[in-house]
Amino acid sequence: PIIDPFDYVVFGGTGDLARRKLLPALYLRDLDGQLPETSRIVGSARTDMTGEGFRELVEASLREFIADKLDPEVLARFLARLHYVSVDAKAARGWPELATLLSDEPRQIRVFYLATAPELYGPIADNIHAHGLQTPETRIVLEKPIGHDLASARAINDRVGAVFEERNIFRIDHYLGKETVQNLLVLRFANSLFEPVWNHNGIDHVQITVAETVGVEDRGGYYDHTGALRDMIQNHLMQLLCLVAMEPPATLDREEVRDEKIKVLKSLAPISRDDIATKSVRGQYRAGAIKGGPVKSYAEEKDIAPGSTTETFAALKVEVRNWRWAGVPFYLRTGKRMPEKVSEIVIQFKPVPYWIFPTGSDHAMPNRLVIRVQPDEHIRLHLWTKEPGPGGLRLRNAPLNLSFAETFKNNHMPDAYERLLMDVVRGNATLFMRRDEVEAAWEWTESILDAWKSAGDRPKLYTAGTWGPSEAVAMIVRDGRTWFDEQAGYGAGD
Ligand code: BG6
Repeated sequence: PIIDPFDYVVFGGTGDLARRKLLPALYLRDLDGQLPETSRIVGSARTDMTGEGFRELVEASLREFIADKLDPEVLARFLARLHYVSVDAKAARGWPELATLLSDEPRQIRVFYLATAPELYGPIADNIHAHGLQTPETRIVLEKPIGHDLASARAINDRVGAVFEERNIFRIDHYLGKETVQNLLVLRFANSLFEPVWNHNGIDHVQITVAETVGVEDRGGYYDHTGALRDMIQNHLMQLLCLVAMEPPATLDREEVRDEKIKVLKSLAPISRDDIATKSVRGQYRAGAIKGGPVKSYAEEKDIAPGSTTETFAALKVEVRNWRWAGVPFYLRTGKRMPEKVSEIVIQFKPVPYWIFPTGSDHAMPNRLVIRVQPDEHIRLHLWTKEPGPGGLRLRNAPLNLSFAETFKNNHMPDAYERLLMDVVRGNATLFMRRDEVEAAWEWTESILDAWKSAGDRPKLYTAGTWGPSEAVAMIVRDGRTWFDEQAGYGAGD
């Protein structure tokens, strides 16, 4: 193993995120032989449960989510690492037991992973302190959302910051652990090709789409007072935008990278009440069908307040006010119950100044660089090319295709959490968010929330299984542009 021995304590250890993502990711690192022998994983939640009960729950989760990766020997080894301690985040119950368990291995790196509601982050940090659980090598991981708005984010940061030094606080955004997202830095800063045109001279606009087919599932209680803007845009889409827009950092050091990202956040033009009609669209799904199967409306989902106006879709036109990006809009959209699950960044370059070829309907269609974050990860550069044939000169827009599955056949595409959970142990925070970054993202997001609220903006309904309300199409079409649709294809000829 190339990593120091650690104890990983997961609060919310029986919850959805732990079962779906965190525990499977830790298992996969074990499968790769990366977990030192003495490393332990401690599940913790309010529920009373024995260690045996927890092991059964985890085994069932692994069978549910990564059945194809289960190896009997590794599974036995992994389950033997598991412990469970029931604690009350807001009271003293359970903390002494946790302290006793951890004190068996006082020199291991300690990680407290908070996969709970953000209201508990402060109380948990206080209890860690009060029960003396903090060693010099102790780190705390905060899941998103960090708070509900700027004020609550600040309050959490203050309270956790009173116990932990900033360098030991890891604010996770799992999009930063995705392979293609990390690849953005490499694409931009290891290749000389793009930088000269990566600005308002070369780029017409940028599109960022994060679409999901799922609805709110059993998370209605959380989602209904959150909405797409807080759940996805404030964090995941903002991070993607920062990586596309940032200046080259001096080094890959955590501070340098984060310094550059925060400059982007500070350059975002607020979206005010006067702008919301032209620069924002809120949507909520009504009943429809996903891949042929009927699905119910948001209003009918479990735990949704009657008459809820929470948005399950949001589209924005964002302006980055700096030298590189002046006049280059960033169009963002994200939604639940879209026709397919796809996260994609499209860089649309400016057209050639003059077109000498036979004209077709889309003759001025410029080059596009498509970065497919998931699924089917790829980078495609759409270029004009001559269609082979003896006839006239027919042009086709076809992609140069870097498919990760084809190019890196023998590499396992890790889940985002695999990388990030180990980065915490290593103390590498480059792919985590700094306090000021989270707060700057909230500050900007709040401008939109306030504008929507003061205008009494209600979401436009869209049918589940479509790309959102027609207003989202109108928003970009008004600017003479269209959302990228790979299937549509385009060509020109005589
Ligand atoms: C989470 C959101 O942060 O990201 C969820 O809370 C969303 O609502 C999820 O479904 C999407 O993540 P991924 O990795 O499936 O794109």
